[in-house]
Amino acid sequence: MKKTKIDLRSDTITKPSPEMREAIFNAKVGDDVFGDDPTVNLLQEKTAELFRKDAALFVPSGTMSNQLALKTLSEPGWEMICERECHIVNYETGGPAVHSSLMINMLTTEYGVMPADEIEANIRHDDIHTPKTKIVTVENTHNRHGGTICPLDEILKIRKVADKHNLLMHLDGARLWNAHVATGIPLADWVAPFDSISVCFSKGLGAPIGSMMLGSRDFIEKARRNRKLFGGAMRQVGIIAAAAIYALDNNIKRLADDHANARLLAEGLNNIDGFDVDMPRVQTNIVIADISKTGKSSNEVVSTLEENGVLSVPFGPTTIRFVTHLDVSREECEKAVEIISGLKF
Ligand SMILES: Cc1ncc(COP(=O)(O)O)c(C=O)c1O
Repeated sequence: MKKTKIDLRSDTITKPSPEMREAIFNAKVGDDVFGDDPTVNLLQEKTAELFRKDAALFVPSGTMSNQLALKTLSEPGWEMICERECHIVNYETGGPAVHSSLMINMLTTEYGVMPADEIEANIRHDDIHTPKTKIVTVENTHNRHGGTICPLDEILKIRKVADKHNLLMHLDGARLWNAHVATGIPLADWVAPFDSISVCFSKGLGAPIGSMMLGSRDFIEKARRNRKLFGGAMRQVGIIAAAAIYALDNNIKRLADDHANARLLAEGLNNIDGFDVDMPRVQTNIVIADISKTGKSSNEVVSTLEENGVLSVPFGPTTIRFVTHLDVSREECEKAVEIISGLKF
């Protein structure tokens, strides 16, 4: 019999549960380009209410959500300040340049948290020669920094700078749910300082497809037009919106289990020769292990783990990433540690 592997590559690999599939099966649908899909309308209302924002717009992916938000907020030639390791810059195929003609100024940080005074120091003075610094983007939680949380008081400090210099703020909140569960701070408080917000249903919440943009009514109406431009307006979209509603109703609180499993995994890996996990980074569901002391490359270590039944991803020449999610149990995380500790590198 083929042994199943313990899949810790990403929280995007989850499959819809039987209950979620039933919700999909029973979804009432209509043509959303005509505004006729009752299920996506319900999802948008429900999400806007949960986050206490005026309006919400359902989109196919987190990438589209971020890119649409930037397109809708900006004018060509504006400059955006963001963190060097952020998803928007590293994994969205140059989207800000391609779609919105944005200049990017990246700040290097240790844990993904950009200090407000450093942001302020990077704002260009208005001059005929310079691009206009107009947008600050925050990623929370921060994927490449290991699921770290940008604390709310730091975000509020950034908002003060943004207000002083007339900047707009965008949140890539693909995993904001994790920050909410880890801190107990309500979702609405997390997003209040932002002009535009993107959250994903297809990461820790376990839905197969879909993200939500949130903001003012005016912003969302402009974004609706840009969504059509991007080819992201969908028809009987209730089929996937039903899964997102199921995820909202059932899969937020349980993220605490993923966080506990990540901690278990991180502590276990730290006890293995050659593996180093920077524990202050382990705040939510992501674990990044530095494997440089094995003397092997991340590709080699990832292959060896895979041959032994544990899936992870290379995350740099000498770092690998593990992510906990609703399709991996505590026992499987314990088993993964046991397997890795038995290997020779
Ligand atoms: C922080 C962050 N933002 C945005 C995205 C993009 O989401 P999608 O894969 O749905 O385009 C991801 C994907 O993993 C992500 O980790």
